[in-house]
Amino acid sequence: MLEVRKISKTFLPGTVNEKKALDRVSFSAHDGEFITVIGSNGAGKSTLFGAIAGSFPVDSGKIMLDGDDITRMPEYNRSRFFGRLFQDPMAGTAPGLTIEENLSLVLLQGRKGASAFSRIGRGDREMFREKLAELGMGLEDRLKQPVGLLSGGQRQALTLLLATLYPPKLLMLDEHTAALDPESASRIMKLTESIVRDSGITCIMITHNMQQAVDTGDRTFIMSGGRIIADISGEERRNMGVAELTELFRRSAGGDYANDRMLLAEEL
Ligand SMILES: Nc1ncnc2c1ncn2[C@@H]1O[C@H](COP(=O)(O)OP(=O)(O)O)[C@@H](O)[C@H]1O
Ligand SMILES: [Mg+2]
Repeated sequence: MLEVRKISKTFLPGTVNEKKALDRVSFSAHDGEFITVIGSNGAGKSTLFGAIAGSFPVDSGKIMLDGDDITRMPEYNRSRFFGRLFQDPMAGTAPGLTIEENLSLVLLQGRKGASAFSRIGRGDREMFREKLAELGMGLEDRLKQPVGLLSGGQRQALTLLLATLYPPKLLMLDEHTAALDPESASRIMKLTESIVRDSGITCIMITHNMQQAVDTGDRTFIMSGGRIIADISGEERRNMGVAELTELFRRSAGGDYANDRMLLAEEL
């Protein structure tokens, strides 16, 4: 279980650009829970992921994972607990390496006793083929091709596979379909849901798409001004459509919402 307790983060303190990006944010995510997060630009959504992943130290508060305090743990030590996807499909894979090499790197990193000279075996390659076939993009026949040749959607699917090859304790998706064409975006969303459900991974997904926010997972946060201003689950969430969520967003985020109205309207 992930427990975030009153974490705060101010960027560039004491300067004219000082920005309180997180303001005493608290929540617990239960094992297997799938949370969607919406909020205006600059609400602190990506900063929340950065704080959990340890990309920078938080100013105050605590982050607990399965009862262990990881607040001060360096990012490279935490990375084995977390999977993270970004909007940019180019961010999660090495373009000059082949599909097989990308998968091998992740596989061997997590394998006990593996060294820089370790090689994957025939069984591993077979497993890669199976996993790639499940993506439904024909990548199982392209193991020897450089990842740089893939489309954005194919690359994001591969990134998703890499991030979940060893199921992480928490998968953080930061608008990971926002840069894709609508068809690819919907394929990646379906894949995301099936991979997360099948492996029981705990997942938090930031999205600008209100439909995605209500349709996916079992709980939704609205963020504004560095805080979680609404936490919707259970019966309330089951009865919630885009119209209700938009109305709640409008009421609770006030001015922030007005600034983002156009952006959101495009995706309704
Ligand atoms: N590394 C940084 N340095 C300075 N300001 C930052 C940094 N990262 C984020 N911010 C600021 O913190 C606020 C929250 O940013 P962010 O978490 O990226 O918002 P969101 O993902 O909700 O759009 C914004 O005002 C942003 O400009
Ligand atoms: Mg962001």
